[in-house]
Amino acid sequence: MKILVVLVLLGLHSAAAVTHSLKYIYTASSQVPNFPEYVTVGMVDDVQIDHYDSNATRVLPKQDWMNRVTEDDPQYWENETQIVTGQQQLFKDNIEILKQRFLQTGGAHILQLMYGCEWDNETGEVYGYTQYGYDGEDFLAFDLKTETWIAPKPQAVITKRKWENDKALIAQTKNYLTQTCVDWLKKYVNYGRSSLMRTELPSVSLLQKTPSSPVSCFATGFYPNRVMMFWRKDGEELHEDVELGEILPNHDGSFQMSVDLNLSSVTPEDWRRYECVFQLSGVKDDIITKLDETAIQTNWSKTGDGGFPLGAVIGVVVVLLLLVVCIVGFFLWKNKKKGKEGFQPANTSDASSSSSSSSSSSSSSSTEVPVPDGNQPRSEEEVELQ
Ligand SMILES: *[C@@H]1O[C@H](CO)[C@@H](O)[C@H](O)[C@H]1NC(C)=O
Ligand SMILES: *[C@@H]1O[C@H](CO)[C@@H](O)[C@H](O)[C@H]1NC(C)=O
Ligand SMILES: *[C@@H]1O[C@H](CO)[C@@H](O)[C@H](O)[C@H]1NC(C)=O
Ligand SMILES: *[C@@H]1O[C@H](CO)[C@@H](O)[C@H](O)[C@H]1NC(C)=O
Ligand SMILES: *[C@@H]1O[C@H](CO)[C@@H](O)[C@H](O)[C@H]1NC(C)=O
Repeated sequence: MKILVVLVLLGLHSAAAVTHSLKYIYTASSQVPNFPEYVTVGMVDDVQIDHYDSNATRVLPKQDWMNRVTEDDPQYWENETQIVTGQQQLFKDNIEILKQRFLQTGGAHILQLMYGCEWDNETGEVYGYTQYGYDGEDFLAFDLKTETWIAPKPQAVITKRKWENDKALIAQTKNYLTQTCVDWLKKYVNYGRSSLMRTELPSVSLLQKTPSSPVSCFATGFYPNRVMMFWRKDGEELHEDVELGEILPNHDGSFQMSVDLNLSSVTPEDWRRYECVFQLSGVKDDIITKLDETAIQTNWSKTGDGGFPLGAVIGVVVVLLLLVVCIVGFFLWKNKKKGKEGFQPANTSDASSSSSSSSSSSSSSSTEVPVPDGNQPRSEEEVELQ
């Protein structure tokens, strides 16, 4: 994702170039307290568009503009609900299959599927992906270029072989990721254009936990999430003693981010040479915050007249974040490698290349790959990991 952000920003001056994305995340869990067993969320440009969980009865829109889909198709939400609920049991079964494969007997386990597409509206370039994660780690990912599944874990190799022998599945996956997904993405972007294309500037503040902590430059309330944030000294961007945080969603649809600066080796006289810079894609003027001791919000008393209750602020932020994370069902597996490099394949050099044509005959229970329908908003693949 970082690569994308940078590219988008480099293209800042040709303001019309925009990369849009559609992404679905499915989270199935077993024995995770206070969390529904099955949750799906859809996102356009990292904005949540819909939600389903096993405690709800249907897929529901999360943006007002998503209600416009029924103008074209009154059945839209029913169809979505049908697809999603139709796969619920399969996800549960898949967790059981994986527990066996990893020789696990009980405890909390989580299986996630993430798929989607990114579309550059200027070049028309499309990047599609679909990948599974189990208990926070990469399990399987489809490589569109080679039309193979990448299995970073030995426990995934059986599935990789089975799915690669299933030509219908590969064709369906490819068709969805390169065509159907993009068609729907364009439709959604069209409905949500005025909201998705807006820009909102953040409020930026300087925070510090303890007198020896790094100073955190904290921006919240911005939209979209195509931003750059950094510290500057004498006008030069700093790379050392700086820690860049992740862009995180706020519950109101805006985003937040922070960049920390470790000042332990900086003398007080030198502080004024530092400033924090926030740049939002599509907005010319940067927000510049000078490092000024009096502007830093803390929870300890700097001058004796009572400080700012930072602990409370941070606490609230953390709670809100947790809520957002739960609601959005953010991928619990944080893949270290971002972008398109993909996974490190396990040693599968003995993978059958020619292989039997009757792929499904080896599995006792049927592999249900429905005939590609080709125009549903979501992937309808019902794939068993077995
Ligand atoms: C890409 O999106 C921008 C912003 O909505 C728009 O101005 C431009 O016309 C679009 N370009 C194409 C080729 O659709
Ligand atoms: C979902 O419903 C079940 C049973 O109805 C309940 O036990 C559980 O607490 C609910 N979970 C959430 C997250 O609401
Ligand atoms: C800040 O830098 C100093 C050395 O320059 C180091 O000892 C300290 O651990 C750093 N603090 C943080 C929070 O990284
Ligand atoms: C301020 O908050 C931080 C983090 O919550 C805590 O570690 C620190 O002890 C607090 N300082 C005071 C003076 O309360
Ligand atoms: C939803 O289902 C109805 C009836 O099965 C079908 O006519 C319609 O095309 C479907 N909508 C989409 C978006 O596929």
